[in-house]
Amino acid sequence: MGMNENVSKPLDRLSSELADDMAAVNALIRERMASRHAPRIPEVTAHLVEAGGKRLRPMLVLAAARLCGYQGDSHVLLAAAVEFIHTATLLHDDVVDESQQRRGRPTANLLWDNKSSVLVGDYLFARSFQLMADTDSMEVMRILANASATIAEGEVLQLTAAQDISTSEDTYIQIVRGKTAALFSAATEAGAVVSDVNADVRQALFDYGDALGIAFQIVDDLLDYGGATSTIGKNVGDDFRERKLTLPVIKAIAAADADERDFWERTIGKGRQNEGDLETALAILKQRGALDAARADAIAWAQRAKAALDLAPAHPLREILSDLADYVVARIS
Ligand code: IPE
Ligand code: IPE
Ligand code: MG
Ligand code: MG
Repeated sequence: MGMNENVSKPLDRLSSELADDMAAVNALIRERMASRHAPRIPEVTAHLVEAGGKRLRPMLVLAAARLCGYQGDSHVLLAAAVEFIHTATLLHDDVVDESQQRRGRPTANLLWDNKSSVLVGDYLFARSFQLMADTDSMEVMRILANASATIAEGEVLQLTAAQDISTSEDTYIQIVRGKTAALFSAATEAGAVVSDVNADVRQALFDYGDALGIAFQIVDDLLDYGGATSTIGKNVGDDFRERKLTLPVIKAIAAADADERDFWERTIGKGRQNEGDLETALAILKQRGALDAARADAIAWAQRAKAALDLAPAHPLREILSDLADYVVARIS
């Protein structure tokens, strides 16, 4: 794909289009991540929040609301709530994955400990529900509560699918739809719902978030085998070490000969990994065309996301969201 001017910077275009709203969201995040009663909380939250993060999910809330002509200010509360849910899941995820780097910094579990990450994650989850309650909308409350449950289900399903080399592509999609896409689709759907749009527009924005989230996670999983640590701000090879059945590996196993099957059974199935195995895995993934095939799937999901927008209102933000879908997969093209 050619990286023309329009697809290269949709995140920047989104943040400049939403600059005033995002300033309000960031101020709210800073205010609500504090705690006067437990000093460990602001230490951990400041560490994560100061590291930045793309703020993709809150921008999806704001963009969906603006796209739907929203004039109130509940979207700011919702956007902050969504970023808190995201940050809580990252704290928990890095404990579960035993990760050492996040947002280009050492993880909280490494700098403090697992206990702090779990408990501060719980605090941020609770803070997100306070923010939702402030919107006075039962419908958005329902959407974000459902998404929170679905994310947890996705993470637990992944836990039990890890190490199982018979995991199917369908199960993989079920996992990423839960752990990642559920928050994307909740963000865009909630943005639509506060704006009181009709059911078709609501569905269109849900479908956009769902497909975008799946494309995003497939790309994240590809970067785990291909990206440089310096560009992704996380360690490369974590998924292999954690014996996760991500899409490239599932595709390579489906195409494996007897020797390769033994290799996957030993390294992922049994977890007996030796030095050089990550490099071997990468060579097999390339040789079997598994990285290209996963990339093609990511592109197809991005196309689905763009197609969903056809039913959303015409608006400059709609074009940016459409370009954002291309951008998400352009990271690996
Ligand atoms: C990381 O999400 C978690 C995944 C779903 C892969 P982001 O890449 O959006 O994380 P930040 O917020 O920008 O750090
Ligand atoms: C992302 O999952 C975390 C959630 C969506 C809850 P991963 O474990 O695949 O993502 P990274 O690579 O740690 O960001
Ligand atoms: Mg992880
Ligand atoms: Mg994980």
